[in-house]
Amino acid sequence: MNFKEELKVYAQEVNFYLSQCVKGQGIPCDLVKAMEYSLLAGGKRIRPVLCLTWAKMLGVNLEQVLPFACGIELIHTYSLIHDDLPAMDNDDLRRGKPTNHKVFGEALAILAGDGLLTHAFSLMLSAPLPSHLIVSATREIAWASGPAGMVGGQVLDMLYTGKNFLDLKELQKMHRMKTGALIQGSCVSGAILAKSEGADEDDEKMAREYGQAIGLAFQIVDDILDIVGDEQELGKPIGSDQDQGKVTYPALLGLTKSRELAQECAQKAKACLDKYTGREKDFLAELAQYIVDRVN
Ligand code: IPE
Ligand code: IPE
Ligand code: MG
Ligand code: MG
Ligand code: MG
Repeated sequence: MNFKEELKVYAQEVNFYLSQCVKGQGIPCDLVKAMEYSLLAGGKRIRPVLCLTWAKMLGVNLEQVLPFACGIELIHTYSLIHDDLPAMDNDDLRRGKPTNHKVFGEALAILAGDGLLTHAFSLMLSAPLPSHLIVSATREIAWASGPAGMVGGQVLDMLYTGKNFLDLKELQKMHRMKTGALIQGSCVSGAILAKSEGADEDDEKMAREYGQAIGLAFQIVDDILDIVGDEQELGKPIGSDQDQGKVTYPALLGLTKSRELAQECAQKAKACLDKYTGREKDFLAELAQYIVDRVN
């Protein structure tokens, strides 16, 4: 199997779990529909795949980590629903479909996001692994997705919108928080859960450094694709950042320099895998490169 096929197989595992995890729990039917509309609309599933492959590389069975990894995807999906709202980026297209609020209205879109966020924690806490490790990994994700991570980054994004002058340091901090933190947390939580199989502090450190590097690369490339991407391929609008006056890497540094920096991040990430061997190591190296080369 090549990298793309393998990514597809992991994504299928994730998709199957996601298709089962919201139904039949006494949730009002309209809310299930709104949550599943965005959750099951596709998406690359990069974050759960990172959690799964870090854990698997360090010795854990995929099935044991799956509920945790999928919880992360629920958090990511909630962030997309809220990010698209008129009060935020005001976008109409997501994952190739009209955005959640366009279909269900703003109130239900907000609540679908809230529902995904809180349900995520119930999934993460249900993973069949030692409870002290679950607590520690969940804490990592709470930190990464909360005010010191993704939510804080979204606030910086909002505050910086329309600003003409922002230095690279501030922009990098915003990117690390709004997007990098959850991607990093996905890797780190996988390494933490693998402590049940003998993973140690150094593995956690490597996952953190790898995740930090690809997390930044991911948002730099997201900024680039907003300019040069194909709407059909991306499944979301092109030119949204410029329309909104967002501060982005290409706006600050140009496309060429931005691409160079993303590639540097991928190299840094690959170097964190030096001590490992086997198929998952190669997969994670290829994933770092894919994040830079992707077209969607
Ligand atoms: C988009 O994330 C939002 C960002 C944080 C940049 P993805 O590019 O991972 O979106 P999906 O999950 O594949 O739709
Ligand atoms: C979103 O960044 C980061 C999130 C936490 C959702 P963007 O606003 O650039 O993401 P897209 O381009 O809409 O997917
Ligand atoms: Mg945004
Ligand atoms: Mg957006
Ligand atoms: Mg974007």
